[in-house]
Amino acid sequence: MSEPEFRPGLEDVPAAKSAISFIDGKNARLEYRGLPVDVLARESCFEETSWLLLKGTLPSQRELADFDHALRQNRSIHFRLKDLIRCMPASGHPMDALQAAVAALGMYAPTRSVKDPEANWQAVIRLLGAVPTLVAAFHRVRRGEEILEPRADLDYAANFLYMLFGQEPTPAVRKVIDAALIVHSEHTMNASTFTARVTGSALANPYAVIAAAVGTLSGPLHGGANEEALNQFESIGGPDKVKAWLDAHLAADPKFKIMGMGHRVYKVKDPRANVVQELAEHVFAESSKPKLYETAQELEKLAEGIYGVKGVYPNVDFYSGVVYQALGIPTDLFTPIFAVARTAGWLSHWLEQLQGNRIFRPEQIFVGTTGVEYVPLGKRP
Ligand code: COA
Repeated sequence: MSEPEFRPGLEDVPAAKSAISFIDGKNARLEYRGLPVDVLARESCFEETSWLLLKGTLPSQRELADFDHALRQNRSIHFRLKDLIRCMPASGHPMDALQAAVAALGMYAPTRSVKDPEANWQAVIRLLGAVPTLVAAFHRVRRGEEILEPRADLDYAANFLYMLFGQEPTPAVRKVIDAALIVHSEHTMNASTFTARVTGSALANPYAVIAAAVGTLSGPLHGGANEEALNQFESIGGPDKVKAWLDAHLAADPKFKIMGMGHRVYKVKDPRANVVQELAEHVFAESSKPKLYETAQELEKLAEGIYGVKGVYPNVDFYSGVVYQALGIPTDLFTPIFAVARTAGWLSHWLEQLQGNRIFRPEQIFVGTTGVEYVPLGKRP
């Protein structure tokens, strides 16, 4: 029998049939259930987009109002879960805290079974409702601040910012975070989504599914590139220093990689980068443009002439870190915000996986030795 072809990282190997999102990398198109992400970022809100991802179509007014109400009702967390978060080391990474807290949230769920669709939907609402509360609770505790109760009078994005920073955001800041949540909520078969589907395929409970996906997203090859892009802009030292910085790096290494640029699928500017940049312009109109943003813009301009032929353009991470920083968001919260958003996508894939589920059980190509004789410890050299 011929050996099956091995593709490291399962590159180009379909792992599932999915109707949730679609990417056309040549034409900068990303669609959720057929709707372009930039339209959703402009016109929709995270609550509506989550429904769209989960259910497949835009909600009616009544459906959205009921869903939004249910999410608001499920923001609070059990006082013992708060105690658990208070016991976590303040020096720990918020993604590790989130992974542990999501798993613990599941211990307060009425069931671990995934057989009842109604119970599964309740779990979706509990997770979407409570994940921002978990992120905010750990952030406040590690700063020695009191955990804030969620506010049912604020929408999803505004309440998340309020729970983190204790202040209601301005409408412009709320809109930026809401749109950032929308553009990060789903992105076809990436590593964390694949993780969610694999865990879900074993009929593990949805809290375990999301905890597993959070663990995968915590890796620097997945979440975290916006942090590196931000560090890069800081190290350049200003828009007037971009050319010298780029020339020096290219002289040392002609294949020097710019953080926040390039993508396996997009060979033009990532449509999400355009959305984030548009929103950045909006926020910065309220204040003056930060130097880091001008540095990033200058780098994009100069890089286009060098890397454009290879299809290397800004991806979603190029501008998002600059925007988050300008809003006063600490760097290590960038990926947890991504996780809050992506929970909607992960849960959509979990529900899809459960329809006609078959447990993931891929093959391997064995490259070890067989038939080895056991030598007792005393007789080994
Ligand atoms: N800066 C400069 N050149 C880049 C580049 C970047 N960020 N990303 C890719 N290239 C170049 C490569 O050097 C390669 O050039 P070559 O054909 O002369 O060898 C060509 O573009 C193809 O690159 P490759 O690494 O094969 O693309 P990929 O699809 O495997 O990689 C990434 C995609 C995202 C891993 C890669 O673009 C990267 O490392 N980007 C920086 C990190 C980042 O922003 N990650 C977040 C992604 S959302």
